[in-house]
Amino acid sequence: MKWFWTSVLIIVAVLNAANAYKILGIAPTMARSHFFVGSALFKGLAQKGHDVTVISPFPLKKPMKNYRDITTPNILKITKDSAQNAMNMRDMSIVEAFFSIFGLGLTITNSTLQEPSVQKLMASGEKFDVVICEVFLTEALFGLAEHFQAPLIGLGTFGASLWNTDLVGSPSPPSYVPNTFLPLTDRMTLGERIFNLAVTSFETVTHYAYYMPKQRELFNKYFPNSKAGLDNIRKDTALVLLNAHFSLAFPRPYLPNMIEVGGMHINRKRNPLPAEMQKFLDEAKDGAIYFSMGSNLKSSMIPAEKRDAILQTFKSLKQRVMWKFEDTNLPGKSDNVYISDWFPQEDILAHPNVKLFITHGGLLSTSEAIFLGKPIVGIPMFGDQFLNMARAEIGGYGVMVDYTTISEKSFSNAINKVLNNPEYQKRVNDMSARYRDQPMNPLDLAVYWVEYVARHKGAPHLHSAGQELGFIAYHNIDAMAILFGGIFIVFVAVHVIIFKLAIGFYHYKKNQQKVKTN
Ligand SMILES: *[C@@H]1O[C@H](CO)[C@@H](O)[C@H](O)[C@H]1NC(C)=O
Repeated sequence: MKWFWTSVLIIVAVLNAANAYKILGIAPTMARSHFFVGSALFKGLAQKGHDVTVISPFPLKKPMKNYRDITTPNILKITKDSAQNAMNMRDMSIVEAFFSIFGLGLTITNSTLQEPSVQKLMASGEKFDVVICEVFLTEALFGLAEHFQAPLIGLGTFGASLWNTDLVGSPSPPSYVPNTFLPLTDRMTLGERIFNLAVTSFETVTHYAYYMPKQRELFNKYFPNSKAGLDNIRKDTALVLLNAHFSLAFPRPYLPNMIEVGGMHINRKRNPLPAEMQKFLDEAKDGAIYFSMGSNLKSSMIPAEKRDAILQTFKSLKQRVMWKFEDTNLPGKSDNVYISDWFPQEDILAHPNVKLFITHGGLLSTSEAIFLGKPIVGIPMFGDQFLNMARAEIGGYGVMVDYTTISEKSFSNAINKVLNNPEYQKRVNDMSARYRDQPMNPLDLAVYWVEYVARHKGAPHLHSAGQELGFIAYHNIDAMAILFGGIFIVFVAVHVIIFKLAIGFYHYKKNQQKVKTN
């Protein structure tokens, strides 16, 4: 009987191997929150038995089967002060912010391609079935897809923007699709539409006229033998996965090879809390508040007077507070405050006694809050955090507090506003119900589409013909000119002829009358 089970096992293993693909994942950004989105997908693929190789500055802490790390630590060294620099970004204008983020993208691209680990992989002669690359101003890295002769899948770590929509040709009419970087909704006044059009035009022109030539330079340096060239590699992207969901934003057009998988990083299974934390929350008879500013802002960076304002606010609350705070020592901390440098965020938020989440407003944190149905008070610091919090205010499930002027008064006002008005909880419950109502768990959906692209050898049948048209043909300017220009010419010609005939007839009549009177 033993031989029977052995052969069953061998057959199962062979069948599994036949469906397993070799996948290269690239998550080059030094921001951990970006890595979390990519790694959720890469781990999901490895769990399904695919052979996954991941280029990123963050090797797995606990190695897992089928998951190989190609570590790129240089970018962490180069941007070591970026938590500080990123904080400076909050004082930048939108124009300065665009240019600063272009520079960051070029630095990430350059340093990743220089890494000895990446160079070694490139020289290895390995082949992959699919290359998945984060789309965050690191376009030259797309060259790795051509290098490894594999179709390219882009992973947008936040909503749709021209960085990712242009890869597959999804249209974004600026009349009702607000720029990702603006706190606008899909229903805009004329003034807002003008503003949206201006920013979107500015972004498009700087992206293609200023930024892309610099990426092309890097691309040509690291991929001197490329046949396709960077622009064609971009336009031939097989698929884009987007960390977004319409229930959190608004309906907008996508081509069928652009898939929303927002929330795929959220663990659907709850894990038990550490005993001490469980007890602290269970015994919070007046409810509890969870406070975390994410992985970027360290508590040591909060100036003393702001920290005191926060502590005074917490002291005056009857709720218990869990504060992600890196120092073990926090003078002036009241008894209702529990500090730790680590919390299992999703499992904490899932506790029924947690009534409020105080956050920096990062996309992952706000989407976890919505998924787990907790209203938020946000203290945005930089980047898309202002936008996420503006959306929370528009959606009625959150309140924003200004970091630069934060005081005991403004902070406790915001907290009490959310805690005492049941409308915030009701709104977030509704959002949560819509966010969870999906035909398929978003991680399974993402894995399905990666396999689909591998199974259909890049799925060229999904490629939009619009990607092959130039600006004039895409917008049908030539056809409109000929069609409507032609109609106009005929219209004018007919009028001229009628006018000429009428004049001729008039003269004819006049001459006849002259003949008669004579
Ligand atoms: C890329 O890095 C190299 C070496 O560190 C440097 O000389 C070069 O200027 C960088 N290029 C860009 C575009 O940043």
